[in-house]
Amino acid sequence: MATPILEMQSITKTFPGVKALQDVSISVERGEIHAICGENGAGKSTLMKVLSGVYGHGTYEGKIIFDGEEMEFGSINDSEARGIVIIHQELALVPYLSVAENIFLGNERVRRGLIDWNLTNQDAAALLARVGLDELPVTPVGQLGVGKQQLVEIAKALSKEVKLLILDEPTAALNDNDSEHLLELLRQLKGHGITSIMISHKLNEIAEIADSTTIIRDGKTVETLNMVADEVTQERIIRGMVGRDLGHRFPPHDSVVGEEVLRIENWTVNHPTQAERVVVDNASLSVRAGEIVGIAGLMGAGRTELAMSVFGRSYGRDISGKVFLHGNEIQTRTVDEAIEHGIAYATEDRKKFGLNLIEDIRTNISSANLDQISRGGFVNSNEEIKVAEEYRQSMNIKAPSVMAVTGKLSGGNQQKVVLSKWLFTDPQVLILDEPTRGIDVGAKYEIYTLINRLAEAGRAVILISSELPELIGMCDRIYTLSAGRITGEVGKEHATQEHLMELMTMERGPVR
Ligand SMILES: Nc1ncnc2c1ncn2[C@@H]1O[C@H](COP(=O)(O)OP(=O)(O)OP(=O)(O)O)[C@@H](O)[C@H]1O
Ligand SMILES: [Mg+2]
Repeated sequence: MATPILEMQSITKTFPGVKALQDVSISVERGEIHAICGENGAGKSTLMKVLSGVYGHGTYEGKIIFDGEEMEFGSINDSEARGIVIIHQELALVPYLSVAENIFLGNERVRRGLIDWNLTNQDAAALLARVGLDELPVTPVGQLGVGKQQLVEIAKALSKEVKLLILDEPTAALNDNDSEHLLELLRQLKGHGITSIMISHKLNEIAEIADSTTIIRDGKTVETLNMVADEVTQERIIRGMVGRDLGHRFPPHDSVVGEEVLRIENWTVNHPTQAERVVVDNASLSVRAGEIVGIAGLMGAGRTELAMSVFGRSYGRDISGKVFLHGNEIQTRTVDEAIEHGIAYATEDRKKFGLNLIEDIRTNISSANLDQISRGGFVNSNEEIKVAEEYRQSMNIKAPSVMAVTGKLSGGNQQKVVLSKWLFTDPQVLILDEPTRGIDVGAKYEIYTLINRLAEAGRAVILISSELPELIGMCDRIYTLSAGRITGEVGKEHATQEHLMELMTMERGPVR
């Protein structure tokens, strides 16, 4: 057997109070696609940061052998010089710079001391063609969707003559089409001899694309599976990750549906900067006590825009339509007003709206409901800690204590903090926008159980999700949204992926 391109031997990495990696070893064959999976906080991103020099030599124990030589990277530049390129969980492109500028940022095409723009754009165009993008090199990156930004990141990696490409949850924010495209690209790169390591929670993708899979649990290597020879199934991966079989993906739930809680009528929202563009078009929907109502739609259908515009007009302009709570019209002109009426919106974009990453877990959880723990205008910090501690335990948030800085938690654990924060407002209506994005299978189950419990306590839940099985497994009723219009309303008993997909791709909504 050929020597592996990479061996990481007995890697141990500690942060204050946390042993993130303990004696982890991994061996990657030349030219393969090697997947890494494991629960949130297992140490996957940390392992890849050790490999790429983000955490430099001397800050961890163990050995890295790449291309037959022991490496002691002091920084990410050192690893890049050897052809190891990492694309992080949170994309790092500069939105207002052009595609070409982003690709060559820090690696500028220079002639006689000046940036050669012709060469920059010409080389960028060639790289874009390699990743299958037909955007112009001068397009600002901020104008591209996440799927395309991800491809720009790969183009950037290719500009550095990459030998080993590391992708940390590359498809977490992508829709099925974009994901498929990206996986296809990885296969093509493999055809050109480029080795990839891919971290993912999407087990179907791993089963489809990986040659081998290493499973990490609690900072330790559990096993490496040979995907091809052993015909590894998703269930098999789950067993490695969680240490047991997971019978159902969705916890059972008896719905007892009561009176209508929230109703939205003829809701119309225009784009914030392109005033004539209608993003939500005359949408009407309702949700009752104890009910879990789904909203299905493709990327750009207006799901998040609908939710955010209702939640304190945090999106859009020229908003018209009515909101009713228990049959009475209410105003939700500001986020505070929405919260006062018992509406909560837990967002998919945790960086932008959900969390204050430099604050600790405690402060984040209490932030939307300080009244509850204040007396005479002062926050009772014992009470605050107690509350946060309860959520840390019930949500199984992996952190040394509630005083830990949120930005240092793993991606999935940050998501659990967002959910805790909104649960603590004890909302009558909870709008969950992609609540399980980037969350491991075990924790997903915990979150589903929690959603069920809320519904059973008589709360109204609106669930926005790109994963149709999740909507079908969880919801009593599902609305479909296409190009800003509600194109259908499907009861649990009729909800199939095919049926929903048909409604989600309908060109025009039903006649009004
Ligand atoms: N900079 C840091 N400071 C302190 N602790 C950290 C830091 N980075 C990570 N950790 C901790 O190390 C552990 C492993 O985190 P890591 O981000 O590697 O997990 P992960 O497997 O990538 O999880 P996810 O699937 O949620 O992204 C977690 O307990 C996390 O809180
Ligand atoms: Mg991670």
